[in-house]
Amino acid sequence: MSLTIGVDIGGTKVLGGVVGPDGEVLAQARRPTPAHDPTGTLIMIFDVISELIAAHPVDAIGVGAAGWIDSTRSKIMYAPNLAWRDEPLRDHIAERFNLPVVIENDANVAAWAEFRFGAARDASDSMVLYTVGTGIGSGIVLGGELVRGAFGVAAEIGHTRAVPDGQLCGCGRRGCLEQYASGSALVRYARATAQEAPDKAELLLSLANGLPQAVNGPMVTTAARQGDPAAIAAFEQIGYWLGNSMADMVQVLDPQVIVIGGGVIDAGDLLIGPAEASYRDALEARGRLPVANVLAAQMGNLAGVVGAADLARR
Ligand code: BGC
Ligand code: NA
Ligand code: ZN
Repeated sequence: MSLTIGVDIGGTKVLGGVVGPDGEVLAQARRPTPAHDPTGTLIMIFDVISELIAAHPVDAIGVGAAGWIDSTRSKIMYAPNLAWRDEPLRDHIAERFNLPVVIENDANVAAWAEFRFGAARDASDSMVLYTVGTGIGSGIVLGGELVRGAFGVAAEIGHTRAVPDGQLCGCGRRGCLEQYASGSALVRYARATAQEAPDKAELLLSLANGLPQAVNGPMVTTAARQGDPAAIAAFEQIGYWLGNSMADMVQVLDPQVIVIGGGVIDAGDLLIGPAEASYRDALEARGRLPVANVLAAQMGNLAGVVGAADLARR
């Protein structure tokens, strides 16, 4: 049986896995991601791969990274939320392990995993994935293939403009969707309400020791589950923006399904509910338009590993 390795480079950890042809994960390894340190991160990537390779002979390595990858899938050109700048990651890894390596955008690999093995596995042709985490990532499959674009940087829906002259984004522009619909935005909304209307955020504030600035993403999810109005409103806000963007994408791409993943999808219906409502609302003007259903991702935190490994196999 042919095995490949998938590596998912996230903001907090480097997660790797040995993956079989049906998406099964046979072994895993992880290391922390050193913040703002590309060289240190490379060492962690080497460590993860070495550990996995020691026990499993593999044919190729796939890597998912949160950034803009060039069309030859070898270089991270830019990463809005990480320190990578023109990083020739593929060559570094290929030289070290003497194996074929592909580098791909983190949301693209997650989309591929959901399309092949996860929430969209019954879709034969097309899907759009949104990953809601620190940033907003996305991956688009059309005609059974990932859409990469002419220069490698297609499917950056997080940096489409939601609000002209809006919030400054990590990419340098103003008003990107990522500033309104990400996990970071969720926390920003919840903190603001906790600050301005503490009576609406009693539960949330009790989780954060009374300090609005100490509120984090998991706290917002916990509080929303228990009915905290500020936390629920924060989910409604990111859902509103997400749904609007999904409606735009449907008008452009007409995919079979839309999948929402990323860390924030742990909140389940707290996010899907408002996102789907605003999506249907935004499309209503078109009356009887047949449109894609909205599904929660199913591959969990292994989506990146499985998708990257599967792309390395092809
Ligand atoms: C980056 C994407 C990435 C996403 C999720 C965005 O800010 O531009 O390349 O997929 O964050 O990590
Ligand atoms: Na992408
Ligand atoms: Zn941006």
